[in-house]
Amino acid sequence: GGTSLTRCNAVLSNSSSSAEVADIDWDNIGFGLKPTDYMYVMKCNLDGEFSKGELQRFGNIEVSPSAGVLNYGQGLFEGMKAYRKQDGKNILLFRPEENATRMRSGAERMCMPAPTVDQFVEAVKATVLANKRWVPPAGKGSLYIRPLLMGTGAVLGLAPAPEYTFLVYVSPVGNYFKEGVAPINLIVESEFHRATPGGTGGVKTIGNYAAVLKAQSIAKSKGYSDVLYLDCVHKRYLEEVSSCNIFIVKDKLISTPEIKGTILPGITRKSIIDVARTQGFKVEERNVTVDELLEADEVFCTGTAVVVSPVGSITHKGKRVSYGEGSFGPVSEKLYTVLTSLQMGLSEDNMNWTVNL
Ligand code: COI
Repeated sequence: GGTSLTRCNAVLSNSSSSAEVADIDWDNIGFGLKPTDYMYVMKCNLDGEFSKGELQRFGNIEVSPSAGVLNYGQGLFEGMKAYRKQDGKNILLFRPEENATRMRSGAERMCMPAPTVDQFVEAVKATVLANKRWVPPAGKGSLYIRPLLMGTGAVLGLAPAPEYTFLVYVSPVGNYFKEGVAPINLIVESEFHRATPGGTGGVKTIGNYAAVLKAQSIAKSKGYSDVLYLDCVHKRYLEEVSSCNIFIVKDKLISTPEIKGTILPGITRKSIIDVARTQGFKVEERNVTVDELLEADEVFCTGTAVVVSPVGSITHKGKRVSYGEGSFGPVSEKLYTVLTSLQMGLSEDNMNWTVNL
């Protein structure tokens, strides 16, 4: 990435489009795409090795109508965030090698070649640096980073695509839910399931996200923020929300569904577990029942996009249970503060999780 980055900085200093950045209302960005300057594109050759990635102007891409990703959903994505430090200059990435590793395991499941951890991290760094002016000011949000891995080679019969593209684009973002930082209202999904044992629920394949749109849109039309999925075998254990993992707190004990192939192994999930233990809390990864959920003191969600979001109510079989009084519970607030201070460079990173750009 070094050479292409130098080239792109040269282009940037001649750029006359900085007005678009100036036009952003940083206090109300929400979570929608704002086109930026550059994206990173890297293709693999026929023996499955990725090489010669480069920064290109952000824009549409051309693929065959018969691309594997379009016809059979052979695709993966990742989600990461970069924060601007208070000095206004330095940018922090959070555990990028974790996303790289997760993409590699997803690629294995989806029969795709994947970039090495180094290639992935270098591509992310180059993309963030090339779009540095789009990283929101400290305290106003983050630059959301979206790496994609797609079967872009043409297929007709069902088979792995003969060619793959790794692409990284970015967009400045604020709060994920329209509630902002206010607690979200979830409904336990009783008809649809997100994942099955032996399926792809444990990897970040694009089809998992298309599959949850129906339940999500029904829930939204009824005024809920999103749905919470139950396991498809017993219809009793918590799995996850469409876009995030779930935690409950009862008498200071923190519990979250264990990773067993049907839930996405969230990097924020894993980090919150470590932060909580460092803060002296007991954390259990295990089967968590709906009954426990309804009796919890606090419920919260974790994810890169949602960060740590308090849950204000859960509706299940027509019964609504509320938590907190319109804000964070004490445990989730503490975890939120410790994690985000570290991610934003406001506290010392004694976990060694941040990468300074
Ligand atoms: C993320 O949290 O980064 C995700 O990838 C979830 C997505 C549905 C926004």
